[in-house]
Amino acid sequence: MKLLHIDSSALSEQSVSRQLGNAIVSRWRDEMPGLQVTHRDLDADPLPHLTAAALAGTDSVASRRAEQVLQEFLDSDIVVIGAPMYNFGIPSTLKAWIDRVAVAGKTFRYTEQGPQGLAGGKKVIIASARGGLHSGSPADFQEPYLKAVLAFLGIEDVEFVRAEGLALSPQHRLEAIDAALAAIPSPLRKAA
Ligand SMILES: Cc1cc2nc3c(=O)[nH]c(=O)nc-3n(C[C@H](O)[C@H](O)[C@H](O)COP(=O)(O)O)c2cc1C
Repeated sequence: MKLLHIDSSALSEQSVSRQLGNAIVSRWRDEMPGLQVTHRDLDADPLPHLTAAALAGTDSVASRRAEQVLQEFLDSDIVVIGAPMYNFGIPSTLKAWIDRVAVAGKTFRYTEQGPQGLAGGKKVIIASARGGLHSGSPADFQEPYLKAVLAFLGIEDVEFVRAEGLALSPQHRLEAIDAALAAIPSPLRKAA
């Protein structure tokens, strides 16, 4: 089994989504011997914006890198995504990654009946961190967006490990992180 671990926070060691993502991967590694983990840090090694030149494939180095990013995603069985809320949405670095994995003919296609996702069968766990409280808010363009784009690619097995209200108070921050760590799903859960 292959696990792809994506980080996108720009807050380095202070990042809560990184802390949660690491804890998720560590649990899955412990409970699934032989799990192969690939880590992609979109802050340390950001992908470029999708430009006309990128779509035309005129830069062979950039094209090879984009193919590698897509293949890494296609090859994975489990994807853990560290996703902070930035300005009500996701970091632009994470959006740039989504632009590389949402590829017509590879991860989705259009039919006469509408769009069809081609990347089904994966499990996705999202380590979500946000300063305010946004669950159920119409201005939440982070979690619902990720759920929608993953569903478009055919991925319905999506779980959120969420710490929110992190900016409300130091006490609330600690409690939110503890609650999120306690809510990390186990790969053994279905067998239990
Ligand atoms: C550039 C930036 C934009 C942010 N925008 C929002 C926002 O729109 N709503 C919110 O609740 N928190 C916002 N925050 C707070 C982050 O969601 C919070 O710091 C969270 O912990 C970020 O995840 P991370 O710790 O993994 O980086 C923002 C933080 C940064 C740095």
